[in-house]
Amino acid sequence: MPDTARIIIDGKEYEYPIITGTENEKAIDTRNLRSDTGHITFDEGFGNTGSCLSDITFIDGEKGILRYRGYPIEQLAKHSSFISVAYLIIYGELPSAAQRENWRENIRREASLHTGMNSMFDGYPTRSHPMAILSAMLNSLGCYYPHMASNNRQQDVEHFDNAATLLISKVRTIAAMSYRTEKGLPYVWPRSDLRYTANFLHMMFSEPYNTYEPDEDTVEALDLFLLLHADHEQNCSTSTVRMVASSGANLFASVSAGVSGLWGPLHGGANAAVVKMLMEIERDGDDGTRFIQAAKEGKARLMGFGHRVYKNYDPRAKILGRAVERVLANMGRKDPLLDIARRLEQEAINDPYFVDRKLYPNVDFYSGLLLRAIGIPLDMFTVMFAIGRMPGWLAHWREVAIAPKQRIYRPRQIYTGQAKRDIEEV
Ligand code: CMC
Repeated sequence: MPDTARIIIDGKEYEYPIITGTENEKAIDTRNLRSDTGHITFDEGFGNTGSCLSDITFIDGEKGILRYRGYPIEQLAKHSSFISVAYLIIYGELPSAAQRENWRENIRREASLHTGMNSMFDGYPTRSHPMAILSAMLNSLGCYYPHMASNNRQQDVEHFDNAATLLISKVRTIAAMSYRTEKGLPYVWPRSDLRYTANFLHMMFSEPYNTYEPDEDTVEALDLFLLLHADHEQNCSTSTVRMVASSGANLFASVSAGVSGLWGPLHGGANAAVVKMLMEIERDGDDGTRFIQAAKEGKARLMGFGHRVYKNYDPRAKILGRAVERVLANMGRKDPLLDIARRLEQEAINDPYFVDRKLYPNVDFYSGLLLRAIGIPLDMFTVMFAIGRMPGWLAHWREVAIAPKQRIYRPRQIYTGQAKRDIEEV
């Protein structure tokens, strides 16, 4: 196999190295293209652009493969927990039993928020979207730890371990408080006897006069949801985190920007959009057929379908689809929206429109139904994605921050506006 690529421009030939990844992915290294030729590459939406080298997550979208630090997602989902996977993603190895206990204990210790933040939550009107509060509060959190949020790269890297532990823990407290702010409910403080996921459910649903005791199935299902969202290489929010980080910005500012990137319906907002879509289909008395037709005619988008990288079934969707069935069966409940989702899936995966475009269910197709089954309110769906994605954002921030050659992310453009013109004097 050649290890260089040749590009011919105006009859002149230029040679560029080919970079090969661990799994044999290939990239043409065009870093010198502009200085050599005066040309840049054009790749709207970055579908063919490798923006970095990364050791964290591997995806083979054609085969439907996802691995965190080399471990297949299916094995992690079966044998691990969100907290252990968070450690794996950030530090590169699964924790030993002692490391896991230490990590748990450190996270547990960081669960509460400075009381000064209460008045910030109080300042939001009820009905504020929890994603808006989450993003603002994560950035504000840095104000309480100025030594960790200095924008002095060396100093911020030195404090990374503490800042990461703190963010993994407090994102969950802030998330629960955002929900309670939205609903105008009193804040509930974390408990030291509960593990990560159960503690979150307690902060969401306990009342001063009534302690919520989540059952094991619910905790397990939510933990699985978080684990499956822990990283997904260079998606929109993670690329945003890396981009902000590349300017030298601190961890708190960078993950806050990640939350904003995640919010949109084409990315993390899709989990709520899927359930809204299923509700509309149900309300219209459609069995899904009319909706599929509308999607094919470009009048609607089948939310939870299609992916920039997966051209096959997203492995997370398979796991989540089975999890929804299991959770509902354990609860002895049925969800008519799940029946509609299964029908839509069957129609779509057998329809040439979707088959030709390689559109399959993505992570969001069943994740919203899982959240709904365990009682998470619709407005909180994307917040749940953000809690799950925090380890990935932290690991990517660190990769940028410790890279030997720290280059600011700064794409170029092709200018298509007015040519030079002069102001007419009147
Ligand atoms: N329903 C109907 N048609 C679709 C869909 C869909 N969900 N997704 C893509 N298409 C069509 C699209 O219209 C286009 O058709 P044509 O070639 O005739 O113009 C073709 O498929 C290629 O689509 P694209 O928009 O160029 O693909 P993309 O890689 O830019 O977009 C996507 C990827 C995920 C934004 C898109 O598939 C989509 O909007 N899906 C629905 C939203 C969604 O589920 N988002 C969650 C993504 S996974 C989790 C995450 O990363 O957050």
